[in-house]
Amino acid sequence: MQKILILDFGGQYDQLIARRVREHHVYCEVVPWTTPLAELRAFDPIGIIFTGGPGSVYLDGSPTVDPQIFTWGVPILGICYGCQLMARLLGGEVVPAQEGSAREYGRTLTCYDTSCRLFRGLPKEGASWMSHGDYMAKIPEGFALTARSAACPNVAIADEDRGFYGVQFHPEVGHTERGTDMIQNFLYEVCGAKGDWTMEDYERTAVAQLREKIGTGKVLLALSGGVDSSVCAALLAEAVGPQLTCVFVDHGLMRLNEGDEVEAAFAPWDINFVRVDAGDRFLTKLAGVDQPEEKRKIVGEEFIRVFEEEAKRIGAVDFLAQGTIYPDVIESGAGEAAVIKSHHNVGGLPDYVDFKEIVEPLRMLFKDEVRQLGRELGLPEHLVSRQPFPGPGLAIRIVGEVTKEKADALRLADSIFREELARAGEDRRLSQYFAVFTNTRSVGVMGDGRTYDHVLALRAVTTSDFMTADWARIPYDLLDKVSGRIVNEVEGIDRIVYDITSKPPATIEWE
Ligand code: XMP
Repeated sequence: MQKILILDFGGQYDQLIARRVREHHVYCEVVPWTTPLAELRAFDPIGIIFTGGPGSVYLDGSPTVDPQIFTWGVPILGICYGCQLMARLLGGEVVPAQEGSAREYGRTLTCYDTSCRLFRGLPKEGASWMSHGDYMAKIPEGFALTARSAACPNVAIADEDRGFYGVQFHPEVGHTERGTDMIQNFLYEVCGAKGDWTMEDYERTAVAQLREKIGTGKVLLALSGGVDSSVCAALLAEAVGPQLTCVFVDHGLMRLNEGDEVEAAFAPWDINFVRVDAGDRFLTKLAGVDQPEEKRKIVGEEFIRVFEEEAKRIGAVDFLAQGTIYPDVIESGAGEAAVIKSHHNVGGLPDYVDFKEIVEPLRMLFKDEVRQLGRELGLPEHLVSRQPFPGPGLAIRIVGEVTKEKADALRLADSIFREELARAGEDRRLSQYFAVFTNTRSVGVMGDGRTYDHVLALRAVTTSDFMTADWARIPYDLLDKVSGRIVNEVEGIDRIVYDITSKPPATIEWE
């Protein structure tokens, strides 16, 4: 498999660069700039990308790379800081830009030399996204200028013979028009990529590797029903089916039919599927508790306890599997830290489950790749493309104390909301959508009688990262239909409100 090496100088868009490369079906890995040169060489890349970074190349102690790298005959694309670093190491000069000249932030009209391989086939001008305070006062020998803006004549440089390219702007962000085509040009025109990174191939290779590693050993996995753990389970099922035991703890705070759906999804595989229906146990622990953080802690701890009990019953296993994915690995500095970090979305890793080694078969995949792999493996679409669901489940969607009656009412209302959104095709544009049992009562009138029942809130948001979110503009007619159905079909609810708060100031969940 061909590989691109992304040398990380601490830029804020590094993950995005990696995603863009993978979207073009070329495998890549992000490694810190401190990685020894021999390791970079051993990676055997067909091309290298130097990322952006917050530093200034002329300051002592700034991130750098051994200039030996330029003698390998491997093409290099430097982005922002990476461009300046390449320029400086190859004999150019980088200086702080003067206020008002050459220093650029934000969307900038840029003119490209389309005879350069990086810009081949693209329009001669377009907006690019700049974020640099330094400036290449002198470009290195052998390089030509290949793009300019009004403030800066040196926006891009290229040494086509050696395959070295540098851009001051960020082609990986959406604000740079045709930026993704520039990355494609680098991969295919410059590095000679063949596009051999597909999920079909990945599945084949991963299955073979897992078989080799696991041999005749036993594997244990805590299956939550979320995308990552489900795909991890399906991959292991494909690789070592009967040696795999999945423990699915149903804490009674799942959505309607969720437990059955997860169980049904894994029925086709010959694995040991252990479903623990522990609803009563969780409800007992939650009785009388109304503070969100306390509820979270109780659900998390109880989850681990149940899982450990099951693990003990199963006995010693050789491998504990986890659904760690690549963004977690990159965020934890690509080091060993990720191995001990738990990514189960309920609580921590049980520390006295008896196992010898951890396997993390999704460790190198982005979320969209995980979904793709899930489809390849034949998991149902509703499981593969599902919205995030918090580990503590409905416990944090019932304001105040949790009871079975409230959970049952909420489950039904939530399923009506989801069903109508799906029927209208609205679900595809939403990032997360659910109902909340507000624990407030209000007066209503049904038939000729007075009611004094509960208020239910509907919440739907759009977001790309869940750090900020907009409340979703769902058509009124659709809300009307959902509202009508819920008050008619769910006992104990006589008023529906729609949450029109974005994040911030609100959070996505109510608790
Ligand atoms: P907030 O409510 O903080 O949510 O805006 C952001 C995202 O995190 C999810 N979330 C949780 N996930 N355990 C989880 O596994 C939790 O305790 C938890 N709380 C919030 C939330 O659903 C949203 O996707």
